[in-house]
Amino acid sequence: MSRYLIVGGAGYIGSHVVRALVERGDTVVVLDNLSTGHLEAIATSGARFIPGDVCEGNGLDRLFRCQEFDCVMHFAASSLVGESVTKPLDYYANNAGGAIRLLEAMQRNGVDNFVFSSTAAVYGEPSRVPIEESCTPQPTNPYGRSKRFIEQLLGDCAKAYGLRYAALRYFNAGGACPSGEIGEDHSPETHLIPLVLQVALGQRERIDIYGTDWPTPDGTCVRDYVHVCDLADAHLLAADRLAAGGESVVFNLGNERGLSVREVVDLARRVTGREIPVRDAPRRSGDPARLVASSSRIRSALGWSPRFEDPGELIETAWRWHREHPHGY
Ligand SMILES: NC(=O)c1ccc[n+]([C@@H]2O[C@H](COP(=O)([O-])OP(=O)(O)OC[C@H]3O[C@@H](n4cnc5c(N)ncnc54)[C@H](O)[C@@H]3O)[C@@H](O)[C@H]2O)c1
Repeated sequence: MSRYLIVGGAGYIGSHVVRALVERGDTVVVLDNLSTGHLEAIATSGARFIPGDVCEGNGLDRLFRCQEFDCVMHFAASSLVGESVTKPLDYYANNAGGAIRLLEAMQRNGVDNFVFSSTAAVYGEPSRVPIEESCTPQPTNPYGRSKRFIEQLLGDCAKAYGLRYAALRYFNAGGACPSGEIGEDHSPETHLIPLVLQVALGQRERIDIYGTDWPTPDGTCVRDYVHVCDLADAHLLAADRLAAGGESVVFNLGNERGLSVREVVDLARRVTGREIPVRDAPRRSGDPARLVASSSRIRSALGWSPRFEDPGELIETAWRWHREHPHGY
């Protein structure tokens, strides 16, 4: 049994990890300012909730002094790519600033193990697909650059202070806990699957497809959707590896299977049995045509493999959540 501090644990991905940790008997404290998270997402999880902001070092020190942790997982971030372009200072302050405050507090209080939510956005427009971790990161927006900055900071802290970390580069998270109790609830929503399901629920008129002339089989953008419970499994494996004395690592986390926008819409039509109108729209600048992960590094290093490989199943779990919680938490 280990003791975890989960920063940003009331958010979409964090709350699924919190649930998985508690279920296997670990002790979990969640620190979250609820800026985009929901208390309801962890209310019945068995984790202890501490309201607070990761950018406030004094609060972090108080927390580390009154409770011991074996590992910290850091999910808290601002993560809207478009907003990061118009508000870069906010993004660097929350993402880079928050990570610095957290790492300082860990260092002052002797906590060495860290699992970090990185992103496929660090790659920018990849030169090769499937994308391997060895692909040179070239983020194309402030969000991706703030995450890449933290990865580099982690490397520096590992050398200087003996920090050990796992940086997990998620591709597109999707799906929900199969129980239907927790799921994705972002406002504004920018992710394709929840948007498509909101159309199925009659909450939106249609889905705009940005670009139908990309160099992909059906002309629409291709992305790699990985189930949020598979992400949770990977966090537990990564934390266990650090606890066993493993080296610092960077892992991609994707399903290794690309789905186009049209394929997502078609699957959602099949799963929901509802009409989902679409409208073709011009390309958005900065969108790469295809982002598909190679996850072979984490498969061979940790034995991770996705339980929800079938994208239909991923959409089914998301649909259960959205149908039962049409207005979120
Ligand atoms: N959702 C995806 O597809 C995806 C893909 C790649 C990477 N990521 C990264 O994974 C992480 C989690 O993503 P998510 O979709 O669960 O996001 P989310 O917004 O649902 O969760 C983030 C959580 O962090 C909290 N938070 C934000 N700033 C904070 C602060 N200063 N202090 C304390 N708490 C704070 C929010 O209230 C929220 O509960 C983020 O770092 C995101 O950049 C997500």
